[in-house]
Amino acid sequence: MKKEFLPVAVAILAGSFLLVSHASATSATEEYDEDAFGPQDPIIWDEPAKASFDHKIHTDDYGLECDSCHEDVFAMEQGIAPESGNFTMAAMAEGQFCGACHDGDTAFASNTNCIACHAVPEDPIVWTKPVKAVVFYHKAHTEDYGLDCDSCHDEAFAMKAGAAENAPDFTMKALYKGKYCGACHDGETAFASNTLCNTCHIGKKGYDRMMGVEPHAEKKGTHGGH
Ligand code: HEC
Ligand code: HEC
Ligand code: HEC
Ligand code: HEC
Ligand code: HEC
Ligand code: HEC
Repeated sequence: MKKEFLPVAVAILAGSFLLVSHASATSATEEYDEDAFGPQDPIIWDEPAKASFDHKIHTDDYGLECDSCHEDVFAMEQGIAPESGNFTMAAMAEGQFCGACHDGDTAFASNTNCIACHAVPEDPIVWTKPVKAVVFYHKAHTEDYGLDCDSCHDEAFAMKAGAAENAPDFTMKALYKGKYCGACHDGETAFASNTLCNTCHIGKKGYDRMMGVEPHAEKKGTHGGH
C-alpha cells in the first residue's frame, strides 16, 4: 500500500513543481511577444530630426508582416536608416523608407499629418547665440495661433533645436528682411520684430530662471546635465 503512495506523491510534487516553474516562466518573460509584433518600445530617431515609429501599431493593429519592411525597406536594427544620409522627407516622397507605404494610398501620405510621426516639442526652444537668450514656444504657435508645422518646417527653420544659431545670419537684420522669425513677425502676420523686444528676449535673468526649472541646462561639463 505504501508503495503506491510514493509514485503519486512524486507525481504531485513533480506536477506542482512544473506548475510553479511554468508560472514563473510566463511572468518572468514578457506578456508582449516581440517575435510576433517586433520590439515593444517605440523606435526613436534624433537624426536628422526627431521622429518615432511604433512596431505594435503596424504589426498587431494593422496586421503587417515583418517582411513587409525587413530587410527591403528597413534593416532589422535601429539607427541604420539615418546612416544612409538620405533619411529625409524628400526620399519618402519618392517612395523610400516610410514612404514605401505612406504615399496617400496604402497609408496616409508622409507630407501630411506631421504630428503623427514628429511629436510637437513640449519644452521651449532657447537660443543663446549670438545673444543670451531668446525663447520660442511651439505650443503657443501651433495650438494657440493654429499654425501648421510646415508653415515653419523646413523653410524658415530646420526641425532641430539649435540649428539656426549656428548660422552666421541669425540676427535682427535677417529677421527684419523676413527670414527666420521675421517670416511672420513683420507687423502684419504677427507683431513686428523691431517691437516688443522682451517678448522674445528673456535675457540672462530669464534664462537662468528657466534653467533653474528646466532639468537639462546646457552648462559646460558641470552639474547641469542629467
Ligand atoms: C510617416 C511618418 C512621417 C510623417 C507623416 C512626417 N515625417 Fe518627417 N520624418 C519622418 C522620419 C522617419 C524622418 C527621418 C528620421 C528623423 O529625422 O528623425 C523624418 C525627417 C524629417 C525632417 C528632417 C529630414 C529632412 O527631410 O529635412 C524634417 C524637417 C521633417 N521630417 C519634417 C516633416 C514635416 C514638416 C512633416 C509634415 C508635412 C513631416 N515631416 C511628416 C517621418 C515622418
Ligand atoms: C512597417 C515597417 C516595419 C515592420 C512591419 C516591422 N518593422 Fe521592425 N523595424 C522597423 C524600423 C523602421 C526599424 C528601425 C530601422 C532603423 O532605424 O534603421 C525596425 C527595427 C527592428 C528591430 C531592431 C530594433 C533595435 O532596437 O535595434 C527589430 C528586432 C525588429 N525591427 C523586429 C521586427 C519584427 C520581429 C517584425 C515583425 C513582427 C518587424 N520588426 C516588423 C520597421 C518595421
Ligand atoms: C509596409 C508599409 C508601411 C511602412 C513601411 C510604414 N508604415 Fe506606418 N502605417 C502603415 C499602415 C498600413 C498604417 C495604417 C493606415 C493609415 O493610418 O493610413 C500606418 C499607420 C501609421 C501611423 C498612424 C498610427 C496610428 O496611431 O494609427 C504612424 C504614426 C506611422 N504609420 C508611422 C510610420 C513611420 C514613422 C514609418 C517609417 C519609419 C512607417 N510608418 C512606415 C504602413 C506602413
Ligand atoms: C512658428 C514656427 C514653427 C512652427 C509652426 C513649428 N515649429 Fe517646430 N521648430 C521651430 C523652431 C524655431 C525650431 C528650432 C529650430 C532651430 O533651433 O534652428 C523647431 C524645432 C522643432 C523640432 C526639433 C526639436 C528638438 O528638440 O530638436 C521638432 C521635432 C519640431 N520643431 C516639430 C514641430 C512640429 C511637429 C510642428 C507642428 C505641430 C512644428 N514643429 C511647428 C519652429 C516652428
Ligand atoms: C509662421 C509664422 C510665425 C513664425 C515663423 C514665428 N512666429 Fe511667433 N507668432 C506668430 C503668430 C501668428 C503669433 C500670434 C500673433 C501675435 O502675437 O502677433 C506669434 C506670437 C509670438 C509670441 C507671443 C507669444 C505669447 O506668449 O503670446 C512670441 C514670443 C513669438 N511669437 C516668438 C517667435 C520667435 C522667437 C520666432 C522665431 C524663432 C517666431 N515667433 C516665429 C507667428 C509666427
Ligand atoms: C520675434 C522675436 C524677436 C523680437 C521681437 C526681437 N528679437 Fe532680437 N533676436 C531674436 C532672435 C531669434 C535672435 C537670434 C538668436 C539669439 O541671439 O539668441 C535675436 C538676436 C538679437 C541680437 C543679437 C544679434 C544681432 O542682430 O545683433 C540683438 C542685439 C537683438 N536681437 C536685439 C533686439 C532688440 C533691441 C529688439 C527689439 C527692438 C529685438 N531684438 C526684438 C528674436 C527677436
